[in-house]
Amino acid sequence: MKDNQKIYIRRSMLYVPAISDKMIRKAAGLDADAVIIDLEDAVSQEKKEEARKIISELLKEVDFKGKEVVVRINSIPSGIWRDDLNAVISDKLNAILLPKVEHPEDVKMVEGEINKLKMSREIKSDISIMCMMETPLCILNAKEIAGSSPLLKALLFGAADYTKETRGIISTSRIELLYPMSVILLSARAFGLDAIDAPFFNIKDQKGLEEHCLQAKNLGFDGKQAIHPGQLETINRTFSPSEKEIEWAKRVIEVFSKAVSEGKGVCTLDGELVEVLHYRRAKRILKVTERINKGGHNEAL
Ligand code: COA
Ligand code: MG
Repeated sequence: MKDNQKIYIRRSMLYVPAISDKMIRKAAGLDADAVIIDLEDAVSQEKKEEARKIISELLKEVDFKGKEVVVRINSIPSGIWRDDLNAVISDKLNAILLPKVEHPEDVKMVEGEINKLKMSREIKSDISIMCMMETPLCILNAKEIAGSSPLLKALLFGAADYTKETRGIISTSRIELLYPMSVILLSARAFGLDAIDAPFFNIKDQKGLEEHCLQAKNLGFDGKQAIHPGQLETINRTFSPSEKEIEWAKRVIEVFSKAVSEGKGVCTLDGELVEVLHYRRAKRILKVTERINKGGHNEAL
């Protein structure tokens, strides 16, 4: 298993339709860790070209204040993904989100095109790839997809498309989604990627949103996609280490460091066994907290 060497903060990733100049400008000033400017489902077929122009202008002009700037392009089968990339690849862009991925080769194709455009435009900054995990074939090929490219940084669950394909119905507990969510999480962790939960579509239901956030956090997810500014506070709070977790981490580091200095490899804290794995987990919690407190979510630690 690989650990991410760099820690990126991706608690909240807010979608904005690429056609809305106003919402993109507004998103830049909101408290999302990432903004996903959407050229796929949020833009009608006739408006794709206009939306590409809006993105290419706003990337030059708008200060996203340290957020990770992501563009969701159209899928490989759409046949227009190259036009999307051609319009949006610039040194202001941090990542491309590829929807409806089904094979590792889909990611390789996008990687090749990004590298080609970066070279011809003399772009030196990193442009990553993220994948929407939202079709049955994608879930079945998740391991190969997760290991497909060095540019790949995160897997994002697409629950609406997934459920459309399976013909299932999502209940409040989301028990129906435990399998794909677990597959996405394990595939991400096995290859050092972040795993991001699906959006919560009822923008008025904060309680339901919080429950889904907690469920995803307990599974190990790093964050959640958002569709409305009103969802950001709940998402950011749930996916940040809690006071209790921070306190636990500080105490684990203290007792474990003392044990090591006395030549011991294990010790206890409030009667619970503490080993090196707890120490490493505690270190990560404090690093993530430090990173969140610093702001500027796309800067590596
Ligand atoms: N990003 C940035 N700003 C947003 C926003 C978003 N995703 N959603 C709403 N806003 C802004 C509105 O423009 C409005 O701004 P204003 O007060 O300055 O006029 C304010 O937040 C309040 O919005 P509200 O009136 O509550 O919502 P709405 O009816 O304007 O929009 C949606 C509701 C669902 C249409 C809208 O949130 C949206 O388009 N979300 C993204 C959808 C998307 O991209 N889906 C694809 C991926 S699933
Ligand atoms: Mg989708």
